[in-house]
Amino acid sequence: MYYPDEIVEEVRARNDIVDVISSYVRLNKKGSNYFGLCPFHNEKTGSFSVTPSKQMFYCFGCHQGGNVITFIQKHENMSFTEAVRLLADRAGMTLPESDDSGVRERENRRAQLLAINKEAGKYYYAQLRSEAGARGMAYFKQRGLTDDTMRAFGLGFARSSRDETYRYLKSKGFSDDLLQESGLFNYRENQGMTDKFWNRVIFPIMDTGHRIIGFGGRVMGEGEPKYLNSPESIIFDKSRNLYGLNIAKSTKAKNIIICEGYMDVIALHQAGFDQAVASLGTAFTSGHANLIARYARENVRKDELTRYKDILLCYDSDGAGVDAAIRALSILRETGLRPKIINMRPYKDPDEFIKALGAQEFQKRIDEAENGFMYEIRILENEYDLRDPSGKSSFIKDVAARILRFEDPVERDNYVGQVAYRYDVSADSLGEVIKKQAIAGGDVRISQRPLSTRNDRNDISEASRLPQGRLLSWLCEDPGIYETVRTYISADDFADPLYRKVASILFEQIENGEANPADIISMFTEEEEQRRIAEAFHQNVGELESVAMKESALKDLMLNVKRSSLTRGDRDDNDFETIKRLRKQLEELEKATIRLGE
Ligand code: GTP
Ligand code: MN
Repeated sequence: MYYPDEIVEEVRARNDIVDVISSYVRLNKKGSNYFGLCPFHNEKTGSFSVTPSKQMFYCFGCHQGGNVITFIQKHENMSFTEAVRLLADRAGMTLPESDDSGVRERENRRAQLLAINKEAGKYYYAQLRSEAGARGMAYFKQRGLTDDTMRAFGLGFARSSRDETYRYLKSKGFSDDLLQESGLFNYRENQGMTDKFWNRVIFPIMDTGHRIIGFGGRVMGEGEPKYLNSPESIIFDKSRNLYGLNIAKSTKAKNIIICEGYMDVIALHQAGFDQAVASLGTAFTSGHANLIARYARENVRKDELTRYKDILLCYDSDGAGVDAAIRALSILRETGLRPKIINMRPYKDPDEFIKALGAQEFQKRIDEAENGFMYEIRILENEYDLRDPSGKSSFIKDVAARILRFEDPVERDNYVGQVAYRYDVSADSLGEVIKKQAIAGGDVRISQRPLSTRNDRNDISEASRLPQGRLLSWLCEDPGIYETVRTYISADDFADPLYRKVASILFEQIENGEANPADIISMFTEEEEQRRIAEAFHQNVGELESVAMKESALKDLMLNVKRSSLTRGDRDDNDFETIKRLRKQLEELEKATIRLGE
């Protein structure tokens, strides 16, 4: 069922966000906002905020956010359409054709897609064990897999064929529509349907109910792309499923191991570590973290404080792996978990480690796993020159800011002790630095962000994203500054591609008379996009006492946005005209005196 934008907007407008959320979360008013305990992660302090003026929610702890529809989707685990329907009901609105046939239709499609995957899985499985699959079998054997392992993971093989798999499934009676939606085939007008997976070994991906929701296929040997994966679909949400969890969920081990690849999981299981899982070739998300938290919970009694198994990250030891680990660490921490890091050096990944040194040595590495926070600052060390006294004090300041993010004072103290010991500073002076930052930083929790170890030109750094979000947030709160802003800044100046889109919509809204941030959120369907937009709009612009302060803050902000516009990663360095124009605008802005009326 598809509802036109106007209907969605009306449903949203008729459901006040404070009203709706109040029936799920106890909210307290603080200033113009409401705060409460976040329903999406475990916390003792209320980081969850609801802003009536913007009709949005945002959690400063786990960074989930969105409008009232997003909230219902997340809280009730509903699709967009289902959430709209629930809210329409709540507001007493009748939606066009609001019978349940939409839901039934969708359920039916889900079941059919699962059936297609099941058939395809059986087909690939049989091929691996047939003559045509000899190459695949040889490949798996050469990688050291036993028959038992191959069976436990349902491994298979797709032989070289144009459309055999397609014809096989067609013969089972599935419609072209559904087969296309399954993502197992490529469709081109002049070629019809062809098999997506051919001449690859196949890894079926299962959900925790052992249903096949997608496939990964690897080339045997060298070749690009190394892995092909099923696309996301209504049954395959990459950010909410972990490879191997269907088995790992019943492990007796006292920890869960998160690694990067299919082969890592399989090698670990074969070596007896049946607690290993992997995110599926996508970055680790808060959806993954929540899933882990659910299965890592140790206590069953409701009245006990939540206790978790150890969460161990076992990412590749190369640069990209370290980056990914640092991000995953911070996401896991936001979910209330306290991850550790397994060191696999000198080997690249757990698969190679186990091949070289065996299970016993791996168990030792598990026992020696390093606290995630101490690991993070050890990586941070590389960005400073610790032999230089001023380099060292900058480093300590950076570490202090990170310690400050822990809400629990006891935990903070523990880290103060550890850091003081490791880096040879006194715990007292480190404590002083932290206190100073707490006072100066104001809303320190906002800056809770993973650090990156690389400076990828296309990866817009958090430092440059913050001002862009802040400018958007300010424009919403005080559209009066728009006249000034548009003199110097255009939507195209926002270096972050998502903010760029938001800016162009927001500018248009303001020109048409009213900023409507919650409506902007509805225009984006990806959860991650909604989250990031809500995050931007929830940036605290801060109470600025005088007009002069406001003017100077706005100028700084615009300069910031303009500068990152100039160095935007996706700008063509040879587009001299644009660069010249931006340079000139930047110079003008530098010289300009910003005047905001009373
Ligand atoms: P092996 O070389 O078979 O040992 O693979 P690996 O598991 O060590 O793979 P690697 O560390 O290169 O990548 C980790 C994971 O990222 C893989 O298991 C895949 O899920 C994913 N991945 C790797 N290469 C590709 C690719 O080319 N395309 C896509 N979509 N995903 C990939
Ligand atoms: Mn590998």
